[in-house]
Amino acid sequence: MNVDVLPRGTFGGEFRVPGDKSITHRAVMFNAAAQGEAVVTHALTGEDCRSTAACMRALGADIRFEGETVFVRGAEKFRDADCDCGNSGTTIRLLAGLVAGRGVTVRLTGDASLCSRPMERVARPLRLLGADVRTTEGKAPVTVCPASLRGCAVDTGVASAQVKSAILLAALGAEGETLVREPLPTRDHTERMLAAMGADIRTDGRGIAVRGGARLVCRDVDVPADISSAAYFLALGALRGEVLCRNVGVNPTRTGILRVFEQMGVRFSLENEREVCGEPVADIRVHRSSLRAVRLGKEIVPSLIDEIPVIALLCAFAEGESVIAGAEELRVKESDRIRTTADMIAALGGDCTPTQDGFVIRGKKTLAGGDVRSCGDHRIAMSGAVGLAASERGGTIEGADCVNISFPGFFGMLGGARA
Ligand code: S3P
Repeated sequence: MNVDVLPRGTFGGEFRVPGDKSITHRAVMFNAAAQGEAVVTHALTGEDCRSTAACMRALGADIRFEGETVFVRGAEKFRDADCDCGNSGTTIRLLAGLVAGRGVTVRLTGDASLCSRPMERVARPLRLLGADVRTTEGKAPVTVCPASLRGCAVDTGVASAQVKSAILLAALGAEGETLVREPLPTRDHTERMLAAMGADIRTDGRGIAVRGGARLVCRDVDVPADISSAAYFLALGALRGEVLCRNVGVNPTRTGILRVFEQMGVRFSLENEREVCGEPVADIRVHRSSLRAVRLGKEIVPSLIDEIPVIALLCAFAEGESVIAGAEELRVKESDRIRTTADMIAALGGDCTPTQDGFVIRGKKTLAGGDVRSCGDHRIAMSGAVGLAASERGGTIEGADCVNISFPGFFGMLGGARA
């Protein structure tokens, strides 16, 4: 599907973007592996989270969607299964850890994009615990076979919440204690949720320590709106008007984009700050602002990894030369996002040079617009749509359906778009 996006001189309003993808995956997956029943409200119903639900059903859990509410009954015991993880890296990597040590044989696969992404990064540390994880030349399909697990100290090797989470989930079924260390802090939704469900898990200066054997108990979860989805509307607000996004998850491991807003001169405020189901939440208001260039390095990258395409787009409208470095992880996302982000900005008429680990972006006052290819990547499609809405002439997003991975209804909320 192609969608035309019209230029918008001004853009504003109040938005409730869909539920957080990372938290929805975990709420469905962990409850499906726990004892009892739970209700997950304001869940993301995008394709990635439906893939998680389908996999957990295949493993024996009972899961039903009613709008944005998900009813989950945990599986007493997993059964052998073939799991189609679709486009979802979080589903395949977390599941590899969750099913290891549970006495089942599970084959995990997905679409062509997922089957081209690295899986040894998760298989290797799981093997240190004794897991039997077989990849296909380092990629999916991945087969996990029965094995007994023993706790040990494990370095994730890469700043990846998916890898960290897989090890933590496997550690629940291991004998003794597992200590997980990561090179830079990544999103900690797994740690928070497992603690609330009764796991013996502690974070301290050394890393995250999990003691195996505790049984998880189902917990209801009210999912905050996804800051990664809010980012598109906040960015358009900064470029074209005033935007309020309500009920957004502002876990400090996810709010790197707000630190970038400060550095770029974006005027914004957090209102109504509160905690919901163990996660910090706030309303975020952004005003139209004059943007200045930024320099971002590897320390901040994990806290804004999924927002880099839209941050790069903002840089294309900012005064001066921006440099984003230390972001080589973008090469192994749903697309090679160093290439696809640079191509998206070039298609809009911007000036973005890809580097080995990021971009150099020379900002312009205006961008002409044009036709942007999504390359099947939801975040490229939505960043491109924001760029078109802020451009002089607008243009077309080619292959726009992929927004349904993380943000069904995106174009309706954006307005001024025609399929
Ligand atoms: C996610 C972790 C990140 C992120 C992805 C969701 C998660 O991936 O990019 O969209 O839910 O744990 P990595 O673990 O590969 O950094």
